[in-house]
This record gives sequence, structure tokens and C-alpha cells, in this order.
Amino acid sequence: MNNTLLLPLPGNDSLADALATRIDAEIGKVTVRRFPDRESYVRIESPVEGRTVLLCCTLDRPDDKIMPLLFLAEAARDLGAEKVGLVAPYLAYMRQDHRFQPGEGITSFYFAQLLSSVVDGLVTVDPHLHRHRSLEEIYSIPCRAVRAAPAISNWIRTHLPRPLLIGPDRESEQWAAAVAAGAGAPYLILEKIRRGDREVEISLPMADRWRDRTPVLIDDIISSGGTMIEAVGQLRRVGLPPPVCIGVHAVFADQAHADLLASGAGQVATCNTIPHPSNRIDIGDLLAEGIRSLLTLPPSSPE
Ligand code: R5P
Repeated sequence: MNNTLLLPLPGNDSLADALATRIDAEIGKVTVRRFPDRESYVRIESPVEGRTVLLCCTLDRPDDKIMPLLFLAEAARDLGAEKVGLVAPYLAYMRQDHRFQPGEGITSFYFAQLLSSVVDGLVTVDPHLHRHRSLEEIYSIPCRAVRAAPAISNWIRTHLPRPLLIGPDRESEQWAAAVAAGAGAPYLILEKIRRGDREVEISLPMADRWRDRTPVLIDDIISSGGTMIEAVGQLRRVGLPPPVCIGVHAVFADQAHADLLASGAGQVATCNTIPHPSNRIDIGDLLAEGIRSLLTLPPSSPE
């Protein structure tokens, strides 16, 4: 019997399938459902005793997912798993990393403490590290933060002529700079002022010298779409062509994807950290390497 058991939570099957062969794990089965009173029922249907169990659950819309996840982690341990890890390609609750208004909760820290209390390790992709420099500042378990930049750069190199990477705000510079370097392209950063949950204002430094380039907006998260939509508007107002919009994490709240397409964006491309029709960029190999590193397995050899 293979010692590593990958347990996908509902909605995470294709990612788990793609990872299993890369990390030499067996795929197991769980049942998650609601009782009529909306409490969560969980059951692990594969043997876990003495094994390393990896729960696979991307954490967009986290509030509905967290109770089943916590219960499955506890159940795995209770049933004798040797170690319980979490593969969460999108890690939620990273943006409220500061008390912006008196009385607010610093939920990035509380969420980190909660997960750290039930799993032994965590692998994720491009967590929104802004005021925290590393996950270990808030998580008390070993963590691997995989960077999607190499996969995004590779996609840009093979799909877009003469790209100009544009970050919609200062926080996006870490992604824009890394992707631009990998794609061998220049980048610039816009200035953003956030007026509310869904309202942002963005200004554009002089862009005249880049008119012969394909504008490529890049951000880590596209949630309400407000940041991208405002940036698309700015670029269109100065006469640039419809920009390609790339997000690492396709959170897309409500109608955000349709709104972004309707705002004058060109194509929208995201990584498959959250399943979505806009997924174009596969992070499977990078994520698998992050898991191998957490499990202290040797890196896979190139084919
Ligand atoms: C924030 O700093 C992030 O990097 C993104 O810019 C932000 O999360 C995007 O959110 P929204 O799509 O709601 O504007």
C-alpha cells in the first residue's frame, strides 16, 4: 500500500488526480454532506492508519469549507494517520492582515492559528503576503508557498507577442516583477486607491512609450474584479488595446468574470488554483514540487 494518501474534498478531484501521479500518492475517498440542520457530516472511506494523509481543498469561499476540512483533519488523526497535511492551492483569509479600523479582527492570523491547530503542514500557491513576509509569521506549522510565476511566464512567452506586464497596484509588484523577469518583458505598476470593498481608483503613469506592446495586467487575486476593471478602464482611456488580464487565483465573486470581460478586457487567463472556465495556466508541476518538498521527497527528475 502506498504510504501517501491524497484525499480530495468535494470539487477538488481533478487537481488531486493531476497531483497523485506526480507525488506518487494514492487517491482516497471522503464523503462530505450536510445534515438537515446544516451541520457537516464527514467520513473517510480509505484506510489512513500509519499513513501520511494530504487533504486537498482549495479555500475560495472558505466559510462553507472550513468545518468539513477541520473535521476531516481530526478524523484522519483520530483514525491513526501518522501525519496530516493540507494542500490548499488558494489560501483564504490572507488579506485582512492588519487592523485597518478600530475593533476589526486580524483574520489572517486567526485563520492561520485555526489551520495550524489541525494540520501538520501546508502547501499553497502565491498566498497574499503583503504585510506578512512569510507564512511562518502567522502559521505555526511547516509551510510551502509555491510561486506560480514560472508557469505564468511560460504561458505568456508561448501565447503573447511583445508583452508589457502591468501591475494594477503596488501590492501586485511582486507578481508583475517575477513574471516579467521570467517572460523577458518589461513591467510597470499603476497607482491604486481603494475606496471600499468594491470601489477602487487607479492612475496610470506615462504609457506612451509602450504602445507597440501587448498590455498584460497581472494580479494575484481577482475577487470583485474592481481592481482589474479600473485598470482596464485606465489603459483603454489612454488608447492602449484591450489588455490580457491574468490572475493567479480566479476567485471571481458574483458576476466579476462577466463584468471584467464586459469592461473592455481582452482575454482573461487564470491559474488552476481555483477551478474556473478562465483557467489556462497549469500549476500542477509547481504544486507537486511544493508537496514533495514538504514531504521531504527528492525533487522529481525531468522527463
Ligand atoms: C489586493 O491587494 C490584491 O492583490 C488584489 O488586487 C485584490 O485582492 C483584488 O480584489 P478585487 O478583485 O476585489 O479588486
